Amino acid sequence: MDIELRGITKRFGEVVANSNVNLTIRAGEILGLLGENGAGKTTLMNILSGLYRADEGEILIDGTPARFDGAGDAIRAGIGMVHQHFMLVPVFTVAENVVLGVEPTGRFDRLDIEKAREQVRQISAEYGLEVDPDAIIEEIPVGIQQRVEIIKVLFRSAYVLIFDEPTAVLTPQEVTEFFAIVRSLRDAGKALVFITHKLHEVREVADRISVLRAGQIVGEGDPKTATDADLAEMMVGRQVRFEVEKEPVQPGDVLLDVSDLNVLDEREEMAVNDVALQVRAGEIVGIAGVQGNGQTELVEALTGLRPLLRGRVSFLGEDVTQASARRRHQLGMAHIPEDRQRSGIIGEFNIAENMVLNSYYDERFSSGPTLRWLDVYQQTAANVAAFDVRTSSIFDHADHLSGGNQQKLVVARELSRDIKLLVASQPTRGVDVGSIEYIHKRIVEARDSGVGVLIISTELDEILSLSDRILVMFRGRIVAEFDGDKATVNEVGLAMAGVTAEQAA
Ligand SMILES: Nc1ncnc2c1ncn2[C@@H]1O[C@H](COP(=O)(O)OP(=O)(O)O)[C@@H](O)[C@H]1O
Ligand SMILES: [Mg+2]
Repeated sequence: MDIELRGITKRFGEVVANSNVNLTIRAGEILGLLGENGAGKTTLMNILSGLYRADEGEILIDGTPARFDGAGDAIRAGIGMVHQHFMLVPVFTVAENVVLGVEPTGRFDRLDIEKAREQVRQISAEYGLEVDPDAIIEEIPVGIQQRVEIIKVLFRSAYVLIFDEPTAVLTPQEVTEFFAIVRSLRDAGKALVFITHKLHEVREVADRISVLRAGQIVGEGDPKTATDADLAEMMVGRQVRFEVEKEPVQPGDVLLDVSDLNVLDEREEMAVNDVALQVRAGEIVGIAGVQGNGQTELVEALTGLRPLLRGRVSFLGEDVTQASARRRHQLGMAHIPEDRQRSGIIGEFNIAENMVLNSYYDERFSSGPTLRWLDVYQQTAANVAAFDVRTSSIFDHADHLSGGNQQKLVVARELSRDIKLLVASQPTRGVDVGSIEYIHKRIVEARDSGVGVLIISTELDEILSLSDRILVMFRGRIVAEFDGDKATVNEVGLAMAGVTAEQAA
């Protein structure tokens, strides 16, 4: 069975998320759909899975136009999507989740859980999707939860399976297992769509690659012959350089000294557990870990945005455990927050205003109660040029910038003053490959000028290419430490899954 998307256009107000997209999805094939953040990948697949209606264009199933009025119609037509954020009920078992909404019923219409378990077992065996039907969702790792989502889709007889950025939440080992599953589904004759922004992943698993840029299909690639450079150029629309060049590390004095740190999350549960770490001048310390292992709370505690339950934070020899975020900022702690939309910029402020968002009171920009706007504008213009923020005017609203340029704005703001320590959380999330290399270069420059850098990232590639020292966070604890020059994907990946060195041996 083949599916053809023909001339699909979808607008959200003024944004054209998909523009005249043509795409064919074939049985027995893995189609890699590659594109930067915001390219329109999720929108396109939401249309195919019946969640959105296209403004123009049609979906043909084996040449016959299909009309989907909701996800139910698409599922009945055999199209299932595994979403970026899983939609499982945490307190239910695997079997209960799989049959939710389409329960096999026994006599008197009661849920026949025995039958459900049997069906789960059958599907797992058929496609090599190992799971325990009786396990409770919240007690199993994310990689296994993902298998449950896949079984759920297969249970509804899907022959087209769409995976939206499925590897984002996985450790490297889980990614390898996931690829094996996708291949076995392909070999069983299913049609697969694998969405990602990671070049090496599509090259590894896809049979065919389509590249989406700014809502349009801009090219196709053959995974056997396409290079990262080719694919990146299609994705971004210009040439991209990859290597991060780095001199050997020369660590200086300890700038940040954290001991016995314990922090609660929103649900009052322990998110950071007895963490101790140090960052020295002139070194980059990377914290690796799968999303949701306490990194967010750790960063918030270090930067003064979240109270500690216990512990001590010392910065430049001063005890700042109780100090405000502003005090830390004034002492020379810079922070690139993980969620720039929420805490990095104010969208309806212009670029110049955003550039001084956390330093307008600084003597560089203010004389007593008055802001010296001319100085603000001059500094902004200089930063915009130096950090390559693509904009037509510094008076343009920040939310008119693309994600990558918003991020460059934040990086420019944080790095353009005299700082001692940079805490960078997911510094390149949602940033195109071109801007990633640029931001990395500026971070390495800061390190070379003696700034201490703490990078928290769920992208292991980023941690490996930047860090002089790597700490791995798992369930709120630092569970391993590696030398940045010697660490391998495999070792760090195992630690990210909570596997200790002894267990791995
Ligand atoms: N529900 C929505 N409402 C408004 N704009 C949206 C919506 N969904 C997506 N967009 C916009 O459409 C564009 C494409 O988004 P998306 O399909 O999520 O991209 P991708 O999945 O490739 O990152 C983006 O500019 C995004 O902001
Ligand atoms: Mg998406």
